[in-house]
Amino acid sequence: MAESITITDNRTGNSIEIPIANGGVSAEEWAKLLPNIWFYDPAFSTTAAAASAITELDGDAGILRYRGYPIEQLAEKSTYLEVAYLLIYGELPNPTQYEQWVHDVTYHTFIHENVRKRFMEGFHHDAHPMGILVSTIAALSTFYPDAKDIFSAESRNKQIVRLIAKMPTMAAGAHRHSVGMPFVYPNNSLDFCSNFLSMMWKVAEPHYEPNPVLAKALEVLFILHADHEQNCGTTAMRVVGSSHADPYSAVAGATAALYGPRHGGANEQVIRMLTEIGHIDNVPAYIQRVKAGEVRLQGFGHRVYKNYDPRAKIIKRTADEVFEVTGKNPLLDIALALEEVALADEYFVSRKLYPNVDFYSGLIYQAMGFPIEMFTVLFAIPRTAGWLAHWIELLDRDARIARPRQLYDGAAVRDYVPLESR
Ligand code: CMC
Repeated sequence: MAESITITDNRTGNSIEIPIANGGVSAEEWAKLLPNIWFYDPAFSTTAAAASAITELDGDAGILRYRGYPIEQLAEKSTYLEVAYLLIYGELPNPTQYEQWVHDVTYHTFIHENVRKRFMEGFHHDAHPMGILVSTIAALSTFYPDAKDIFSAESRNKQIVRLIAKMPTMAAGAHRHSVGMPFVYPNNSLDFCSNFLSMMWKVAEPHYEPNPVLAKALEVLFILHADHEQNCGTTAMRVVGSSHADPYSAVAGATAALYGPRHGGANEQVIRMLTEIGHIDNVPAYIQRVKAGEVRLQGFGHRVYKNYDPRAKIIKRTADEVFEVTGKNPLLDIALALEEVALADEYFVSRKLYPNVDFYSGLIYQAMGFPIEMFTVLFAIPRTAGWLAHWIELLDRDARIARPRQLYDGAAVRDYVPLESR
């Protein structure tokens, strides 16, 4: 017998049976029985806002797969650009498709001179690079008016290539501006990650070659961050995209959502927290403060993972490889001690709080020389692939405009009082 639920309206005694399909029940059926009764689910904790074939996440089992491929295999064997192709187009590319894709992305890395000179350089010297990035992505929509043609496959592909290709250029440009260094143009003889590192760090040398271990570590981190199904940023992408705004405006919205400390900004907070703790001797006292509700353990906990985040496991290994080149990040010992204490403590165990992707990624970025302000930017670069995959899926499935309901709990009707009488 097919699985189902039965809902009874106790006011009328009427019932409706709704089939359970693919782990969910259709709200459309509910609405037939109970018009104008809304589910109250403000953070979408129990709402599936979309059906999606992109990323499979089982938070209890600690499983993450892109298009069916386990994240562990992709992190070990693939490249970020291949993963981006997989996410967006649904299949791993064949050699010809891969070559064309890498070529196209590589030859779209330059940004319009006006974007750089007039727009990016207009920011104040101490502007946060995420603020610069959000605004610059949005500004790109004015440079590519053809992006509004969202139902043309050709136009969509053009914007996809442009966005994937230009994110590192804008990201590095935001950093160079914020530290007063001259902008470095893309070097199209380098691979995606090496090119980004060159735009970040090149000074006066004619050709910048990054350490291959560090370039590979970045590749792994980019793969791990490329998608994570319906998180806050992706939901923002889908909501903006559902209004049929152009993809630059939608990616700018998603990037803004990622900026917050509860989301992509958490890796920045982890380093600030570890720095504040300062020494492993101070770990127990800090854990006490967390348990007393004074502070949160940054980089711990997740809405979906109630198990060790599989990305955190891979990142921990990558950290060891990076530290062999850069020397150990002095904050690592504090992080390890915090993890050990937390994983054995009833407070964290009973709430199923485990390290998430952000707990160790910041340590790697810091050891590689990235300033803290760049951490969320480093998240936004690869997440662009996931956002675009969701955008394409949304359009292909002809999703309706996102428009939730509310439960009004404000004032009842009342008469306007003239200013002089208040
Ligand atoms: N430290 C201490 N207690 C915590 C933490 C934490 N990091 N996270 C959750 N809790 C407690 C929380 O106080 C609550 O306890 P109680 O039931 O006694 O009130 C319980 O665990 C459930 O927490 P919640 O706030 O209902 O969980 P949520 O699903 O709304 O929040 C979260 C998820 C990720 C926002 C939260 O765990 C958090 O703030 N973590 C720290 C920030 C962080 O690391 N964010 C990165 C998330 S992963 C990357 C990304 O998505 O960008």
